[in-house]
Amino acid sequence: MTASLRHFMLREIWEEGEAARRTAESVSKSLKELTPSLSPTKFVYFTGSGTSYHASMVGQYVMGRLAGVFSSPVPASEFRHWASPVSSETLVVAVSQSGESVNTVDAARYAKERGAKVVAVTSTPESSLAALSDHVLQTAAGEEKAVTATKTYISQLVAIYLLSSSLGEAKGREEAGKVKGFFSRLPSQIDETVKSSSGQVERLAEEFKGTEFFFILGTGPNYATALEGALKLKEAANVFAEGFATREFLHGPMQLVDEKTPVMIIVPSREHMGACVSLAHRFEKLKAPVVLLTDQEGWERCILVPPVVEQILSPIFFVIPLQLFSYYLSVAKGLNPDNPEKLAKVVR
Ligand code: G6P
Repeated sequence: MTASLRHFMLREIWEEGEAARRTAESVSKSLKELTPSLSPTKFVYFTGSGTSYHASMVGQYVMGRLAGVFSSPVPASEFRHWASPVSSETLVVAVSQSGESVNTVDAARYAKERGAKVVAVTSTPESSLAALSDHVLQTAAGEEKAVTATKTYISQLVAIYLLSSSLGEAKGREEAGKVKGFFSRLPSQIDETVKSSSGQVERLAEEFKGTEFFFILGTGPNYATALEGALKLKEAANVFAEGFATREFLHGPMQLVDEKTPVMIIVPSREHMGACVSLAHRFEKLKAPVVLLTDQEGWERCILVPPVVEQILSPIFFVIPLQLFSYYLSVAKGLNPDNPEKLAKVVR
């Protein structure tokens, strides 16, 4: 490993473009066979733990929009309590990079016992999850050694977008075909996002290395990005970070804002810039440092990402600077981002 890519986490973030390319190839192949048998699906549960649960949340957003199918994300550990009804008419998409997380395997088993069809989205085709699922969509990210999941998250999103757009295309939905058409450009756009955000984020991490609290706000599918960014900050940088749906933050959590709580706001598109800037002013009045994650200028302290062409795909891009920020903050604090001491790659 070169000195500049001295941790697995950083190297794995730099591999995200290639992971997306390989996953799109492998998943598209499987979907050719699979889509006709899944097309009559009326209801989908997405389930997973940790990062894989956040991919599941994006799943609900995308499945509704691209395939016009009702769905709901349920944390795997809560599946037995919250997933109801589950029957032969239900499709369960169980997301797990390892395929061995005990709660996800248990959720899939519970669904199977009730007659549901289970599709595993996993990197590990020989895993327990894959063995009990009806079908496997393999996320071909390659081995991920850092405990903090990065390239496997991007790959899970790719698999979920392709599954949703294939189901949508089978129903003749225009938006689904359009999004699918964008996939050939995705790997290079991901590479560009990693390259262009790295330096900006490294500087920001240096500025915030003494900070103990962060809030991250996102709307639409980037609500899930905000949660995932906050999880990365907790895991890799050992700081207290919470993600919120942007305006939900005003309903209580806002009380905690002060000069010690930077607020990072994901600006999903040009139309949201005005509203996000006025929110940013409100937080600044409370003395909080505010960082906007955006694809356009308009705020002094921001992380600029390349233009986001397809809004629905924006979670794939906006999570990258947050992953990098967690990595650089961890390093700036003298931690080991690959092996947070209290965590394991797989919770069995
Ligand atoms: C553990 C890891 C998390 C991961 C979660 C789910 O808690 O520390 O980083 O997101 O398991 O892992 P899976 O292999 O099921 O995706």
